[in-house]
Parts: sequence; structure tokens; C-alpha cells
Amino acid sequence: MAIGKPMISFHDGPMKIKGSAQRTIWLNDDGWSVGIIDQTRLPHRFESVTLKTVAEAAHAISHMLVRGAPLIGATAAYGLALAVREDASDAYLKHAYDLLHETRPTAINLRWALDEMTRHLLPLPPEQRPASAYQRAAEIAEEDVEINQAIGRHGLAIIKAISGNKSPGERINVLTHCNAGWLATVDWGTATAPIYMAHDAGIPVHVWVDETRPRNQGASLTSWELAQHGVPYTLIPDNTGGHLMQHGKVDVCIVGTDRTTADGDVCNKIGTYLKALAAHDNGVPFYVALPSPTIDFRVRDGVKEIPIEQRGGDEVSHMTGLTRDGRIETVEIAARGTPVANYAFDVTPSRLVTGLITERGIIAANGPAIAAAFPERAKAS
Ligand code: MRU
Repeated sequence: MAIGKPMISFHDGPMKIKGSAQRTIWLNDDGWSVGIIDQTRLPHRFESVTLKTVAEAAHAISHMLVRGAPLIGATAAYGLALAVREDASDAYLKHAYDLLHETRPTAINLRWALDEMTRHLLPLPPEQRPASAYQRAAEIAEEDVEINQAIGRHGLAIIKAISGNKSPGERINVLTHCNAGWLATVDWGTATAPIYMAHDAGIPVHVWVDETRPRNQGASLTSWELAQHGVPYTLIPDNTGGHLMQHGKVDVCIVGTDRTTADGDVCNKIGTYLKALAAHDNGVPFYVALPSPTIDFRVRDGVKEIPIEQRGGDEVSHMTGLTRDGRIETVEIAARGTPVANYAFDVTPSRLVTGLITERGIIAANGPAIAAAFPERAKAS
């Protein structure tokens, strides 16, 4: 069944591969199947995958072909569109919701997108659901791009202010963790949007990229996308940030988030908390780029209330990379049978966060400031 292209105009984003605009998720020319980049193959291979069923969308999220809170949300939205194309009944919609919801527990954008789609679809008669689902999924994707652009504009002011206190041409060092970049969103990225805008504005910005063990999203993804855009960067082992901060080599930390509580506690990739502690100890500003769908108004205490995903031990005991003769291989780096713990996220308490860079401006990481910036979301929860 052809659904037809959603009635929505797409803006050309900044991300280009070999000169052509490229998003992380798109509707194919057939008008219904969904294209994604297989991020498990980066940086060594750039390959796209076509999703044709909700089961394939769920697999893409759980196996991290797509990852990053906003992109997980957009993929879930398109996943529900694929589901109602398969079967538009209430029962199948519920099945699809549950299937997608159980893929990854921490990033709240997943539940946000599923709730948003369901609220939109349930009142409609089944025959109207497919076209409407594709339309709403496309809007969710487009909204993500607009949110990230706005985050970029607000975050740019921070980088400009730092630059104003430096000698002309002196570089501004930004430290980031994991991949909160273009690849974690539909376009622009959250933490990277201010960086791309600063670079495009001619500000000499340089990024310290945490490798982000165990899956190495920094090494494999952030480094790759910064290089695509021509932004100077240096890849560092995860434990290097504190040393750099002690030596005045970090002007600002900007990270992303998978879930931020109503009181401003920030859950993000494991290791973020340690960077926030080091930043606090060294007087380095620590900002979190926060799109509003990543706020969970139902929880207040992040340490106690946010479910932390635990992933397979293989991600820690093994590493995957490119061999000298061009093959992608996985090797074991710990003795066989080594017990492993693999917590994928941690929580940075709000007191360690200098500010939240949202689409509505930079706000304090506390309940009143968050509720004042997003009163409609706070009230609805
Ligand atoms: O496990 P991942 O790769 O999905 O984790 C991604 C992160 O932790 C990002 O920092 C976060 O999703 C913010 S994305 C803009």
C-alpha cells in the first residue's frame, strides 16, 4: 500500500555526506518504507538499511543501528507508522507500542514519541490511521531538527561569550561525551549544534571527544561526524578529561541527555557524571543540551527513579574495529569468562549542571526554571 509523501516541507540541514544533505532517518521514494543509516557500521562503512515492518524498527533500536535519544524517538514514531500500515487495528497498535517501548529503557524520547503518536492515532478510524501516522512521524522528525537548530543558536551564545574573553584566533576547547551529535538526532545534533554553528561562524572551536567506552560512540561516531563537517577535534580516552581540565585545556563541557527529570537531574551516557564532577572541581562550566521531549516530568530524583539500561557483557569484554587488510573484526580483550558489569547510563545531579541549553533558551537545572520554560508540558504531566 502506498501512503504518499507526508505534507510537510523539509529544510535543508547542515549535515552533508559528499556534498549532499543527509539525515539519519528518511522516508524512501516508495512513500512508505523508512531509510536509516546503520550506525553499527560507522565509521568504517557508510551503509543504509530499509525498515519495512515495526519488528524491523524495533530491531534497529534494540541493536543500536539507530541510537541517541532523539533519533530513537523519531524511529519509534516511524515504527508505529509502519505498524498501522501492516494492521491499523487498536490491538495491533497496542502490540506495536509495547514492542517498541521495550527496546531500550532509559531514553525517554522513546515513550514520548510513542505516546504522542498513540494520542494522535487512537481517535481516528483505522482506515485514516496509516496516512495520518506517516504525517505525524514526519512532523516529529522535523520538529527535532527545528529544536536542535534552536539549541544551536542558544548554545552558540555561550561559545561566543567564551571566545570574547580570549585573544583573537585563540581556540575554544569544548569537551563532549558519547555522541550527542547529528547521528543521535535527525539532524544537527544537540550538544554539537552550537559547535557546528560556531565553526560555521568562523569561531576557532576545537572539540575534545571522549572515546566513550564500551561502545565507543565518541571514537566511532562523534569523531566521524565532526570530521565530515571539518570541525577540528581530538579523540581522547575517557579518563583524560579531568587531567585536561586541571591544566586549563577545557573551556566548556557540552553533553547530551537521554532523560532529564523535572528537577533537572541529567541522565546521560555512562561516564558523564565523572566529567561533571571534574568540571565542578575545576570551575569548568558544564552545560547539557536538552530538547524538551527529553524532559520526563513524571520523575524528580534521577538517581532513584530513572531506569538505567544494563547491556550485554560482550560490549565490555570485546572490541570491534578495522583490520589492516580492511575487514571489520571483533576481538576479545578480557580473559574468557571475565565477569562484566555494563551500565549504559549514569545520572548527574542538577547541582553539577551549569545550565540546560533548551530550544527555549538557557535555563537553570532546577524545577521552577524547567516548569517556567515548558509550562504546557509541566502541567500535562
Ligand atoms: O546508548 P546511546 O548511544 O543511545 O546513548 C546516547 C547518549 O547517551 C547521548 O548522549 C544522548 O542520547 C543524547 S543524544 C542527543
